[in-house]
Amino acid sequence: MPVAVVVGTQWGDEGKAKVIDLLAETHSHVVRYQGGHNAGHTVVVGDQRYALQLIPSGVLYPHVTPVIGNGVVVDLPTLFKEIDSLESRGISCSKLMVSSLAQLIFPWHQLLDALHESRLGDAKIGTTLKGIGPAYADKALRVGLRVGMVRDIPAFAQLVRERATAAREMLVALGGETFDVEAMVIQFTELGTRLQPYVADTVNALHKAIEAGNNVLLEGAQATFLDLDHGTYPFVTSSNPTAGGACAGTGIGPRQISRVVGIAKAYTTRVGSGPFPTELIGELGDKIVDIGHEFGTVTGRRRRPGWLDLVMLRHAVRINSLTEIALTKLDVLDTFDEVRVCVGYSLNGAPLDGYPDDSELLGEITPTYVDLPGWKQEIRACRTYDQLPVRAQAVVELVEKYVGVPVSIIGVGPERDSCVVRA
Ligand code: GDP
Ligand code: IMO
Ligand code: MG
Repeated sequence: MPVAVVVGTQWGDEGKAKVIDLLAETHSHVVRYQGGHNAGHTVVVGDQRYALQLIPSGVLYPHVTPVIGNGVVVDLPTLFKEIDSLESRGISCSKLMVSSLAQLIFPWHQLLDALHESRLGDAKIGTTLKGIGPAYADKALRVGLRVGMVRDIPAFAQLVRERATAAREMLVALGGETFDVEAMVIQFTELGTRLQPYVADTVNALHKAIEAGNNVLLEGAQATFLDLDHGTYPFVTSSNPTAGGACAGTGIGPRQISRVVGIAKAYTTRVGSGPFPTELIGELGDKIVDIGHEFGTVTGRRRRPGWLDLVMLRHAVRINSLTEIALTKLDVLDTFDEVRVCVGYSLNGAPLDGYPDDSELLGEITPTYVDLPGWKQEIRACRTYDQLPVRAQAVVELVEKYVGVPVSIIGVGPERDSCVVRA
């Protein structure tokens, strides 16, 4: 079975893109299955750094066909900015396919996102303000516009006019910022025309590729604990990043998936609001942020740092049927005297049975930690497991023992080849 899924196991920014780039070498198609340009996926090759928001992270290989699947919400200005930027750097996007069934994001979705956030005040979610929630809400309301609609530009222009007029009325009623409807119709007629050559029946194309014996890689954005159903609701994104979402968001059935790689940072970060049991406030947290460069690719916001949480990771193993884990950014902990790892939760002194189903509780629990001695040496140059210091191996082995699946890849630096791949 030739289909693999890569999924974030924490709150995003685990280093998914680097692992996808690594795995893409042996795959013919790399497919985004949910989310939109709220994602910030960084790949470093030599002295070149590529920050991708919508285009799949496999794009850097000429043999890969990048696919934007039906589960994605597509912001056309961002898509073309990204294509232009990649092509100006010598990376061809000519093979890109965008699912005719994917939904489009419009500027009014962004205005509504900002309005909802400002109305929430202190209770705001801390979204990326990219219009993701309102675009998925329109999909669920069955009033969203789909990519395939640009095949008939006059009809598309009329639909944009209708939706823009309705959205403008809503924004006026709610006291939000508004826009010029006809200017938007002109802008999206041009963008829609430019999109036409990329529009494809990606469900059919992916099945044909699989039937021809190719390997297909499904690229998750965001992560398990930002999942609309399984995450720390309401502080989540509006899609299903978990492995089940990969089926719905591509049209590939579950029996075709043989490998599900969960990406976990050797510590944890979170951007935006919401509970975070192992959060570190103070000097140690600042040290993680400094060494790990923990600032958002998309919004530039400082990511909240904390220790690795194996209760969450074990839950992510179950939800996603993980077959293995890639443990990234272990090198960021090189200079720490001690590395803490959370192995249990308790509430008012009583131990909890795993990850709670109430995310409010998560804000009140006390983590139980295991403290491991730091290895206090650089691991950037390690390429085999044996080359890692025994104390660094101890972290890897604690993870495997606690969550019950192997750690197959260990990240030791941002560059493409900075990792230990275990046989
Ligand atoms: P994604 O959203 O999960 O793809 O992750 P991001 O790209 O937003 O953030 C991960 C950051 O860590 C990027 O800047 C990567 O270049 C970097 N990175 C990935 N793996 C490693 C690693 O093993 N070590 C170090 N030091 N940096 C890494
Ligand atoms: P990658 O793919 C980290 C967070 C936002 C906010 C919440 C909802 O790079 O890991 P949204 O704009 O999606 O409605 O915001 O989700 N968020 C991310 N955090 N990495 C991401 O993507 C994220 N995408 C959304 O900060 O808390
Ligand atoms: Mg990211």
